[in-house]
Amino acid sequence: MSKIQMKTPLVEIDGDEMTRVLWPIIKEKLLAPFVELKTEYYDLGIKKRDETDDQVTLDAANAIKKYGVGVKNATITPNQERAKEYSLKKQWKSPNGTIRAMLDGTVFRKPILVNNIKPAVKSWKKPIVVGRHAYGDVYKNAEIKTLVPGKAEIVFTDAQGRQTRETIMELPGPGIIQGIHNTNASISSFARSCFEYCLDQKIDCWFATKDTISKQYDQTFKLIFEDIFKNEYQQPFEKIGISFFYSLIDDVVAKMMKTEGGMLWACKNYDGDVMSDLVASAFGSLAMMSSVLVSPHGYYEYEAAHGTVQRHYYKHLKGEKTSTNSVALIFAWTGALRKRGELDALPQLCAFSDKVEKTIIEMIEEGYMTGDLAAICNPPAKRVLDSMQFIDTLAQRLEKIV
Ligand SMILES: NC(=O)c1ccc[n+]([C@@H]2O[C@H](COP(=O)([O-])OP(=O)(O)OC[C@H]3O[C@@H](n4cnc5c(N)ncnc54)[C@H](O)[C@@H]3O)[C@@H](O)[C@H]2O)c1
Repeated sequence: MSKIQMKTPLVEIDGDEMTRVLWPIIKEKLLAPFVELKTEYYDLGIKKRDETDDQVTLDAANAIKKYGVGVKNATITPNQERAKEYSLKKQWKSPNGTIRAMLDGTVFRKPILVNNIKPAVKSWKKPIVVGRHAYGDVYKNAEIKTLVPGKAEIVFTDAQGRQTRETIMELPGPGIIQGIHNTNASISSFARSCFEYCLDQKIDCWFATKDTISKQYDQTFKLIFEDIFKNEYQQPFEKIGISFFYSLIDDVVAKMMKTEGGMLWACKNYDGDVMSDLVASAFGSLAMMSSVLVSPHGYYEYEAAHGTVQRHYYKHLKGEKTSTNSVALIFAWTGALRKRGELDALPQLCAFSDKVEKTIIEMIEEGYMTGDLAAICNPPAKRVLDSMQFIDTLAQRLEKIV
């Protein structure tokens, strides 16, 4: 059998710990037998980032800008403990944050559904994708805690030194004050990334704020979304039969509990932080959540939503078997290969990605899965597989059908 050929290299970004152990096995057993893989490899393992003073992260992001599509493994974001564990020069920034800032992108998280793991919300039948605006608001705030009464104000000083001043509150006693911001540029990029994602996936876009209460701040989000939609996306949306729906956040949360899913839920930063974990947990498992960074400039980076599965890695180092679920990692590869196939007009590559994903879902639905899923599936699993057995079983199935 001749292998499927690729045209443009995929930017391959490796990571850390248990997911680093699984990465080459996925390539060797599930991809390389069928596809003549063409990748440009960047090692974002913590040691390499430390050795290169994080230059390798910048190089990887620039490579995605050059080629358009990347696939990324989970990486350690070092804290004090990790800096000590790996004898790092410093606590390097989150690689995901660096790449996201360089590509100006938005992250979309989509659950992978199987019919033997029922969502906690009965009406949910299709994935709800959460798109989180990962800039500003409370995540880049300024705060004051006062122990005495006083006047709290916000002051804006423009480049000419002119000031605009608003009283927040005459505080009668001790209290707390917070200042937050966002920029029209960032909100516009967020809106365009969301609309691009919906066109790509052919799904509706839902967006919500609290514009009735926040008449400048939240209303600006609403107006920018509506404006960009009307001027740039209404026609392409209508052409493929998808729609944009705006409402208040409380109304959207209530409606979300009654829908059957199948839309993008575009969320402001805090809403996205909270709702993506709620949606992930209600659909079943973090290990069944795929993630893609979409930039309004047309760059894509695919990854699993979970981290490096540190606890399993320590077990693996001791020679013990692990039950790490590789589904979201494999979906990161198939997502990236499918996008490469679409951009390079390689239908065989797209069809291969579809087949791999379908086979994984069939395998789990027939009862063959890792321990994390066995704990929540109904009817009970037929066989609980360890990390390597899962990949081997999948490889055997793929050999028969690809
Ligand atoms: N996208 C990324 O690169 C990313 C995301 C999150 C965390 N991290 C990094 O990962 C490291 C570990 O973080 P964490 O423990 O908070 O997150 P984690 O996602 O690795 O694990 C969280 C929990 O979910 C379980 N879990 C996650 N993925 C699983 C899988 N595939 N199979 C079975 N169980 C799975 C784990 O056992 C653990 O109990 C940290 O250093 C963190 O910086 C990276």
